Amino acid sequence: MTLLSYTDEVAAATAPLYERVRRVIPEIEWPAHAPYVAEINRLKQERNAIVLAHNYQTPEIFHCVADIVGDSLALARSAADTDAEVIVLAGVHFMAETAKLLNPDKTVLIPDLGAGCSLASSITGADIRALKAKYPGRPVVSYVNTTADVKAETDVCCTSGNAVAVVESLGVDEVIFLPDEYLASYVAKQTDVKIISWNGRCEVHERFSPREIEAYREGYDDVVVIAHPECPPDVQEAVDFVGSTAQMINFVHERKPERVLMLTECSMSDNVAAEVEEVEFVRPCNLCPHMKTITLPKILESLQTLEPRVEIPAEMAERARLSVERMLAIGRPKQ
Ligand code: 13P
Ligand code: SF4
Repeated sequence: MTLLSYTDEVAAATAPLYERVRRVIPEIEWPAHAPYVAEINRLKQERNAIVLAHNYQTPEIFHCVADIVGDSLALARSAADTDAEVIVLAGVHFMAETAKLLNPDKTVLIPDLGAGCSLASSITGADIRALKAKYPGRPVVSYVNTTADVKAETDVCCTSGNAVAVVESLGVDEVIFLPDEYLASYVAKQTDVKIISWNGRCEVHERFSPREIEAYREGYDDVVVIAHPECPPDVQEAVDFVGSTAQMINFVHERKPERVLMLTECSMSDNVAAEVEEVEFVRPCNLCPHMKTITLPKILESLQTLEPRVEIPAEMAERARLSVERMLAIGRPKQ
């Protein structure tokens, strides 16, 4: 791994970027990040590369080296639109696979190949073939938090931001919806379409509980509690708003509650807190260990070596791509 120094030149070049994160990164920590920020931003231009970063990335990545930030849906849309030759996905492996499906001829990099997801690893293509045999004729809607192997067996993908719209777009009475059982129950409550679900769970969101929310409400007067639909149903019922990561961020920007508790991965509160001064963030810290494998030094190394690359067997990619393209054709959900 390259060790870089914090020179006067680096300090001057990165000073405006530090202003973006001043509220969440102490000044004493900046010299550890700044040389990587400067070198990544230089190398991106040399390589004609862009960095797409998910809302759960740490603030020095999210605010200082990312060209596009957003939820899974926004990142998929941006990946479909970019002219860059190299895409670095600061997120988890399924997000990089989605970017590769939409850009088969571009170099797509994931700075740590081990950046997985408990939902993506909860189901395989063979499991879907078995489900289709058990429930013939029902279309398969898969959350994008799945591998390309699963997407290849899928009729249409969805994200937490458009799941209800995708299910309803099919015009059928019943669908197979996988792999997140909690997202499935969230969708089932908002549509008349019958949902056949799977038993996948997000290891980060399943840890939140109504008791925890109660304790926060007792400790913090008038705290507004918002949650991701990967949280358990009893948590979703106990909160004031449920939405995708982008919908949660928009909620805070638009409503500006005096105090907010975001029940999701904890870097997201930091990223919003860096931008919104008036709101107090109460932070339960549930980290996604997979998202946290991505660091500035690994992003830099990826850009230097153009590795690790995401590759998908051609026949699998052909079929998987259709399921993502069908989702993107359904249109933008309300945010
Ligand atoms: P979003 O699509 O809401 O960004 O969620 C992705 C994810 O992995 C949540 O845990
Ligand atoms: Fe997967 Fe959960 Fe991590 Fe999102 S937060 S990437 S769903 S394990």
